[in-house]
Amino acid sequence: MLENRRILLIVSGGIAAVKAPDLIRRLREHGAKVRCILTKAGEQFVTPMSLAALSGEKVFQDLFSLTDESDMGHINLSREADIILVAPATANMMAKMTHGIADDLATTALLATDKPVMIAPSMNVMMWNHAATQENLKTLQKRGIEIVGPGAGDLACGEVGDGRMAEVADLITALNTFFQTRKQSGPLSGYAALVTSGPTHEPIDPVRYIANRSSGKQGHAIAAALADFGAKVTLVTGPTQEPNPNGVAVVAVETAQQMLEACLAVKPVDIAICAAAVADWRVAQASDGKLKKTNGSTPPALSLAENPDILATLSQAKTDRPKLVIGFAAETENTLENGTAKRTKKGCDWIVANDVSAGFGGDTNTVHLITDQGGDSWPTLSKKAVAERLASQIATHVKQNF
Ligand code: C5P
Repeated sequence: MLENRRILLIVSGGIAAVKAPDLIRRLREHGAKVRCILTKAGEQFVTPMSLAALSGEKVFQDLFSLTDESDMGHINLSREADIILVAPATANMMAKMTHGIADDLATTALLATDKPVMIAPSMNVMMWNHAATQENLKTLQKRGIEIVGPGAGDLACGEVGDGRMAEVADLITALNTFFQTRKQSGPLSGYAALVTSGPTHEPIDPVRYIANRSSGKQGHAIAAALADFGAKVTLVTGPTQEPNPNGVAVVAVETAQQMLEACLAVKPVDIAICAAAVADWRVAQASDGKLKKTNGSTPPALSLAENPDILATLSQAKTDRPKLVIGFAAETENTLENGTAKRTKKGCDWIVANDVSAGFGGDTNTVHLITDQGGDSWPTLSKKAVAERLASQIATHVKQNF
């Protein structure tokens, strides 16, 4: 369950911070991507250098760092993760979280996040049992913060009792359980979704092909977001460098015709999202052998044939039409108008119209969601955030209409 999960690890200032390097190592062994925030007090126990070396990522420490803010603002930092794990969470950190104090990068990220938060308390037994900490614990639990540990045993201060941070293995188990439970109880659990992604490759001969610059990032992120919401997702993808999303059945294809066949084989589904950049044309007669360049000969003429339109086929199907079909419209001008026209032309329910004048393949997307209610313009977001927002709109629609 941790493969490709993005974990923002906040290391605050307790002796258990020395376990952070081992925690990062184990999380990465499970396939997770770890990014760290180290508090000033945390730095007394573990160095930023060791966390950076083990996570393979820059360690964030300063709320008012100009370079960090331009690179990855504190709001984005808190939202780009799938979960925030505070380990260790000191009594002071728990108190600040309870009262919404945001006086450094860690506490600001915790206040700004829209992501789940898990904490691993670690402190002296008297501090843990203190009425203030116990009250704070109750408040945090009530707000849905996941609490792991603490365990009982010898404490670094020489006393014995509750207050030891949960072991690394227990934290890994807790994270696994968290993702598993969320999937099973997600708003799209019980629904099947089909997502197309990536470019298609249309062969010219056995070694050459016609393609486009689609990275597959947006389609893959949508498949991952729908799976996280509990849907049974099949991703039909053209050739991309993107890793297979967690918990998603992947069918790899090359050409538009193969993509159509794969999509039809996946039906019936409740939801279909066509995010692939399908080639409009294929070479009418791809050569069986490699085309040879001979001196003085004229270059071969490529005659093209039209590819099937997968989105239109799914949208206009007479049988088993998915209840919600969503297409993409990559536009370089008049995005909203062209997207609206495309919705009617293809017969789909929603169109995600995006401006690709800046090019394909980036990590952000500026989109308009066009439905029968009109267009809703979203701010520029990471492709992952676009996918999550789309998945949550789908979940709302499914709840109201299916
Ligand atoms: O017509 P246009 O390529 O602009 O439409 C884009 C939308 O149509 C996208 O959702 C894309 O996945 C889908 N499409 C398709 N099959 C095609 C061409 C486009 O599914 N042959």
